[in-house]
Amino acid sequence: MVEVSARDGLQNEARSLPVETRVALLEGLVAAGLRTLEAGAFVSPRWVPQMAGTDEVLRRLGQPAGVTYSALVPNLQGLDAALAVGCREVAVFAAASEAFSRKNINCSIAESLERFGPVLAKAREVGVAVRGYVSCALGCPFSGEVAPGDVARVTTALHEMGCYEISLGDTIGVGTAQATSRLIAACAAEVPVSALAGHFHDTYGMAVANVQAALEAGVRVFDSSVSGLGGCPYSPGATGNVATEELVYLLEHQGLATGVDLERLIEVGVFIDSQLQRVGGSRVAKAIKARQCFS
Ligand code: HMG
Ligand code: MG
Repeated sequence: MVEVSARDGLQNEARSLPVETRVALLEGLVAAGLRTLEAGAFVSPRWVPQMAGTDEVLRRLGQPAGVTYSALVPNLQGLDAALAVGCREVAVFAAASEAFSRKNINCSIAESLERFGPVLAKAREVGVAVRGYVSCALGCPFSGEVAPGDVARVTTALHEMGCYEISLGDTIGVGTAQATSRLIAACAAEVPVSALAGHFHDTYGMAVANVQAALEAGVRVFDSSVSGLGGCPYSPGATGNVATEELVYLLEHQGLATGVDLERLIEVGVFIDSQLQRVGGSRVAKAIKARQCFS
């Protein structure tokens, strides 16, 4: 499980949270049992002001044994900032749609891949792991349908460049289980399925179904966000990631141990929703609370 709330969740909120709150969120998630977490992004603060202060967040967290705090980096400048605070893992992000690539990172897909070359090379030199994202894997907010072959091409490029894992992002949450199965089949024909991860947004309530379809296709790594926080600032209308609470419930009830304490996780969700003055909460949190009222 890759917890993305402190990055994908908070980057989309109207109010920027202070460093202390972001650190408390991440430490709460670790206390609940999560071990791989995106702590922020080294992107332009003019583009995504909510991620300013990621350096301070990482400095305060440190890199405790057994926990990976990673950060998004769009270029060498981002990688250098991540290295300066001791990051041991970063993520580069490309798109399968030209229109989205331009809106999100101000360059074409080909230019973005060229830009990632030196990032991967330097990361390899200093022993930092690099994950890759392919956004718009199941649809683009600007150009509509995206062919699985287009996603597979970018996925392959990132894998060949040295990304150890590629997270397939349904950035706007338009995918269905059937489309997810087709997508995984197309990508797994090019790279090992063990190098693929699923990143599903829940705009149409399909995220859990898409996780299940990806699981059945052999994917074993999923991104999620506590309390279903999330969205993308360059993807109008996109809502949160699949809620971590829902992912834990789904996996545990199918015999896949997550190591996450659901009750503690729900408490973290309540904490972050209150900090954001957000009426949120995953369906799992609400169901468990209701059950407690009746028992
Ligand atoms: P640009 O304007 O084309 O860049 O932006 P530039 O190289 O011309 O530089 C312009 C200014 O940005 C300069 O500052 C640079 O120093 C600065 P100035 O001289 O004008 O004061 N700059 C930076 N500052 C901090 N950190 C950096 C950095 N690089 C340049 N790393 C750029 C290009 C990529 C920087 C910009 O477009 C950007 O920051 N975009 C970020 C977009 C973003 O974070 N989107 C959300 C994450 S992606 C996502 O959510 C999808 C995902 O969840 C998966 C899914 O759901 O599908 C991952
Ligand atoms: Mg996302």
